[in-house]
Amino acid sequence: MLKVNDLGYWYDRQENSLFEHVTLNFEAGTSYAIVGQSGSGKTTFLSLLAGLDKPRAGQIEMNGESINKIGLTNYRKSHVAIVFQSYNLLTYMSPLNNLMTAMAITDSAHRGDKRYAMEMLRKLGLSDEQMTKNVQRLSGGQQQRVAIARTMVCDAKLVVADEPTGNLDEENTRDVIELFQKIAHEQHKCVIIVTHEPDVAATCDHAYRLAQHKFSLEA
Ligand SMILES: Nc1ncnc2c1ncn2[C@@H]1O[C@H](COP(=O)(O)OP(=O)(O)OP(=O)(O)O)[C@@H](O)[C@H]1O
Ligand SMILES: [Mg+2]
Repeated sequence: MLKVNDLGYWYDRQENSLFEHVTLNFEAGTSYAIVGQSGSGKTTFLSLLAGLDKPRAGQIEMNGESINKIGLTNYRKSHVAIVFQSYNLLTYMSPLNNLMTAMAITDSAHRGDKRYAMEMLRKLGLSDEQMTKNVQRLSGGQQQRVAIARTMVCDAKLVVADEPTGNLDEENTRDVIELFQKIAHEQHKCVIIVTHEPDVAATCDHAYRLAQHKFSLEA
């Protein structure tokens, strides 16, 4: 589904490449972890996959078409959903309205379907009362669940997450990771998670380590 071909990236100078000649395939229905030392370039790599930045070398293809050709704005809107470590919810809105807004902006097939949004939030453990109050009044784990629910109500087949459990305790981490596996296996999406936590990486179908400017499969 998502093909990375001979990808290279550096910020200031080519001699300081974060990674080079990266060729990888990411499939729908599968979860992937990306691990590696702090500063190795994991977030940068995700930002390329998400169409937030352009590679210096190589190409990224979605379903056989270059994402440049799709257009990065269009690509971000209809092909990819992002979960950040710090939730990035619309803080002046309720969880329900965060989902409704995301469905509207991305032209989701469920656009305008309040019952569907409520059902998703309920499935993720939010009470009817919680889903209509301001997101800032929820705990970190609850807010991250809302961010994940938001990816679930959108049609994007690619879900990328940058340390989505970085701010969560053990129990919430377990819940969140289970949700990501469900998104991959039940919603048949491609889920790519950057993580520092070995437990999280071990739960994914495949794990890649970014080290020495290259990606390799973890044993
Ligand atoms: N906008 C930028 N301009 C210049 N250099 C940057 C920029 N963003 C990141 N870097 C540098 O690029 C390198 C990789 O950063 P990146 O955020 O991708 O690492 P990371 O693997 O996600 O690290 P962490 O695990 O700490 O989140 C770091 O050395 C960082 O200082
Ligand atoms: Mg990072």
